[in-house]
Amino acid sequence: MKYIKHISLLSAAILASSVVLAQPQETPEEAAVHYRQGVFQTLKWKMGQLVGAKMTGDKASFQKHAQDMQFISTLIPEGFIADSLIEGSHAKPAVWEDPADFAQRAQRLNDMAGELAADDYDMANFDPRNFGRTACGGCHKDYKERD
Ligand code: HEC
Repeated sequence: MKYIKHISLLSAAILASSVVLAQPQETPEEAAVHYRQGVFQTLKWKMGQLVGAKMTGDKASFQKHAQDMQFISTLIPEGFIADSLIEGSHAKPAVWEDPADFAQRAQRLNDMAGELAADDYDMANFDPRNFGRTACGGCHKDYKERD
């Protein structure tokens, strides 16, 4: 019994170490893609949080998530490092052809999220579809491939 227990512990340890070893080394370009996709997933999450806050009439929460979105928008450009248009990315080459314009689109999201975060903003006017089309979709149209 004891012997079997040791064997299974040993095999579990071998399995765990082989899982770690099998994990291929991430290149800087792959890390950049994971980073920026994480940023965008976070933005998507924040869109949901804004909708939820509007539905429950929670102005403080709405403002907080709008501020978060405003800050997160500043994290977009750094994820698009050189030569990182690799498999798994849905970015268009245009990002690297006109980085100044791309950064401006991120700034536009920053401005629009800032408007939502303003004290005098009436969240009853928040239309997520319209916001998404302009602040997010405006950039996707030129800089993101369809999935
Ligand atoms: C400045 C341009 C820009 C703005 C603004 C922008 N996006 Fe994107 N988004 C992109 C690009 C480019 C990609 C593709 C990234 C890649 O795969 O390398 C992307 C990808 C995504 C993805 C897929 C991420 C994944 O896991 O593959 C989601 C979700 C997303 N964006 C949501 C949003 C939302 C929500 C907003 C607005 C709140 C937004 N984006 C604003 C450019 C933008």
